[in-house]
Amino acid sequence: MARFGHASRRCGQIFVQWGGSLGVGSTEATAGQLFHPLWLRLNDPSQITRNQQRLFEMSSIMDRRNSWEVTDLKNEQERLSVQWGDGAQSYYPWHWLAEHATAGAAEAAEAKQLKLEVPKHLWNQSFQSTLPRMEYEALLTRSGKLQLCTYLERYGLAFVSGLGAAEGTVKKVGNYIGHVRVTNYGAIFDVKDDGAKATNLAFTNQKISAHTDNPYRDPFPGIQMLHCLSCAGEGGATLFTDGFSVAQKLKSLDPTAFHLLSNIEHPYEYRDPDAAVLLQASVPVIKLCQGEIERITFNNRSAAPMGPEMPELERYYEAWALFDRMANSMEFTVKANLKPGDLAIWSNGRVMHGREGYERGAPRHLQGAYLDYDEIQSAVRAALAEGKDLERFSIHQIE
Ligand SMILES: [Fe+2]
Repeated sequence: MARFGHASRRCGQIFVQWGGSLGVGSTEATAGQLFHPLWLRLNDPSQITRNQQRLFEMSSIMDRRNSWEVTDLKNEQERLSVQWGDGAQSYYPWHWLAEHATAGAAEAAEAKQLKLEVPKHLWNQSFQSTLPRMEYEALLTRSGKLQLCTYLERYGLAFVSGLGAAEGTVKKVGNYIGHVRVTNYGAIFDVKDDGAKATNLAFTNQKISAHTDNPYRDPFPGIQMLHCLSCAGEGGATLFTDGFSVAQKLKSLDPTAFHLLSNIEHPYEYRDPDAAVLLQASVPVIKLCQGEIERITFNNRSAAPMGPEMPELERYYEAWALFDRMANSMEFTVKANLKPGDLAIWSNGRVMHGREGYERGAPRHLQGAYLDYDEIQSAVRAALAEGKDLERFSIHQIE
């Protein structure tokens, strides 16, 4: 709602007061707000695009002190007009100034932030009976894509069926959902039993315990996809664990272990001397942000040595082993017997994956790809900002 306002100079700043529908001076008038002239100049609404991009470099203002010296103020009907020392003129609608007033802004910003996030639902083995699934045909609609992104934000895991079994499909689907991240493995990678030529345990028929991929990368791939082209007759099921859920349980079960795994950075490494590749990154198993679990990173095969003199080394590895046992326990694991045409997609910073072993020579063949997570988050945030109801995509009971 447009509100009448009035601005005056006060202590080198600009003091703005708004009135309600009756104008400044009425009983509805607000206490007012100080705006620093530099803030006003840097945030001139006519110089900010609809994409929230500034049309000038901030240094062009900062370098010239007179560019935020107020030479004249005019209180107009719908807006405040400011004449600057460098000759420029800016206009600030009264409602725009009201929206940017800091009185109550912390609460407003917090509410806005919360509103633009889908609350995470942590899960364990009992999630098996209600895994988030959808058909490929549905995914190809706008609403279906949003449904998938909401599943990923809320549960960190989703399944899509009906993709067919053509090679390269995972890249096509990945580029529909976001943009496939090309790594040193290429745009897509094949997961099948390479027998004696295998360069990685993933490319054998062996069991693989719960892990996150590419912990040695910074930035790490936020989303992983696996598309099943053919499956093993027996065994070879893909396993998933909600790492956030494991971390949460660990916190109550063994606070010291939680403390060690969330405070000590673990180094990870991947080398390929033939291709001049040496990837290294260090990150705690449980990464926290303001006390909340932000990311899980866990990979036994890529874990590089900790410092041999580390004082808490023994206790640290006990904590690591406990996390490992919990992540691979029945209590936390759900199983997916992917069939040709099925796709699993998950948050690689939250959900850990593994697989059961299977018979050597079985025709199990999956193709995988990575995406960045921010595109998923962005789709959900944009939908929430438009006021869309995403609770309809919940498959668990909302408390
Ligand atoms: Fe993996």
